Amino acid sequence: MKLPLFCAAALTMGMANAQPSDAPAGQALYESACAQCHGSKGRGNMGLPSIAGNDTDYIVSRLKQYRAGEKVGAASAMMMANAADLSDADIKNLAAFISANFL
Ligand code: HEC
Repeated sequence: MKLPLFCAAALTMGMANAQPSDAPAGQALYESACAQCHGSKGRGNMGLPSIAGNDTDYIVSRLKQYRAGEKVGAASAMMMANAADLSDADIKNLAAFISANFL
């Protein structure tokens, strides 16, 4: 009777991984929480960095680093505050929106 249990677990994990990202939700979050620093086109703003031209994986890994409080560049503290409350789904949605729209 171990097989059915294993199958259920594998199915659940598969579904979690296959959860589609929601770029419109990412856009709404970007506009309310990120655009004031990174600009409406992601190209930066008054000395704050451009985030355009990055792929999904890069953006996801950066946001997870900031959320975890890891220092990446000289001004990481500014990003840690902004990433601290992001959920995994928020990060996935933001990355989907940013990578598809800020080329
Ligand atoms: C208060 C201004 C500010 C806000 C708001 C802000 N950021 Fe940032 N962001 C920065 C700064 C400054 C850096 C560079 C940090 C460093 O030196 O490590 C950065 C870096 C990044 C990077 C990495 C860029 C790279 O080339 O590695 C990404 C991705 C990013 N921000 C996404 C976001 C997202 C998504 C949001 C909204 C949830 C957001 N930022 C909100 C200021 C901000």
